[in-house]
Amino acid sequence: MSDRENTTYYLDGLTAVVTGAAQGLGLGIVGQLAINGATVIIADLQIEKAEIEAGRLQERGLSVDGIYLDVTDSKGVTTFFNRVVDNYKRLDILVNNAGIGQNVNPIVELEDSEWARVLDVTLTGTFYCCRAAGRIMEHQESGSIVNIASINGQSPAALVAAYNVAKAGVISLTKTLALELAAYSVRVNAVSPGPVYTEFNKTVMSQRCESLNISEDQMIERIRNTIPLGRWGEPTDIAQGVTFLCSPQASWITGEVLRVSGGLEGVSATPPKRKS
Ligand SMILES: NC(=O)c1ccc[n+]([C@@H]2O[C@H](COP(=O)([O-])OP(=O)(O)OC[C@H]3O[C@@H](n4cnc5c(N)ncnc54)[C@H](O)[C@@H]3O)[C@@H](O)[C@H]2O)c1
Repeated sequence: MSDRENTTYYLDGLTAVVTGAAQGLGLGIVGQLAINGATVIIADLQIEKAEIEAGRLQERGLSVDGIYLDVTDSKGVTTFFNRVVDNYKRLDILVNNAGIGQNVNPIVELEDSEWARVLDVTLTGTFYCCRAAGRIMEHQESGSIVNIASINGQSPAALVAAYNVAKAGVISLTKTLALELAAYSVRVNAVSPGPVYTEFNKTVMSQRCESLNISEDQMIERIRNTIPLGRWGEPTDIAQGVTFLCSPQASWITGEVLRVSGGLEGVSATPPKRKS
């Protein structure tokens, strides 16, 4: 399918920022927003990778740049968004995608540092970006924010409490901000992805395989079997949902959480007793 045939939404002239977009789901979202006409900024810690990916998309005729951003740096986040408005004149779309997985561990063995590491990026980083972009969009009286949550935020999985809590927090933040910015015509929604085989997922999966003593292929198949639509997700599945929520076609939708998971509501396995 050519890029043009894939065009569904009209985002021409809009400026979008996608955080944590040098790879994985974020990069898929960048491609989809750009194909639909937006100028998109890949905002990531991995600046070299962001610039390489931006270059690849530019070669396809798309308008994409890579800029360094650490979402955990409160001041840095404010400076970043002010710079975006100085250079691109406006900020129409923000996708808060940066998030990290947790080392698989029961709550009773969870270290303070691991709890803080996951919450800092996945929840507090999303808050910093929502706050900085919210100020700009409030002033513009237009804009759309999509926060990437997870099915774990709605239906917690065992052994990843910090991640579940962070994503539940992202959902609450989304709904609160949607109420606060509605009077300014700024919409705020969330997308809750199901399993997509990215670097993030590979790391968590390998730890789960180890604890269950099964191979990665067995684990992939086990998860596939729990997904009602019978397959793992692709970055483009998530990107399509995000692009819809950012588009004018979704102009009467705010404060919603869109599950894009092949029908999977959550992973509910209960771990056995640990060996003492
Ligand atoms: N892959 C899945 O199955 C899945 C399922 C549900 C939700 N999610 C969520 O989707 C989002 C993207 O996940 P992914 O699978 O593409 O992960 P990924 O690990 O492949 O990519 C995450 C990106 O975030 C960047 N990043 C990390 N810390 C950052 C920081 N402090 N500042 C800026 N950028 C930072 C990384 O450099 C990386 O490019 C995450 O929020 C994740 O929780 C993923």
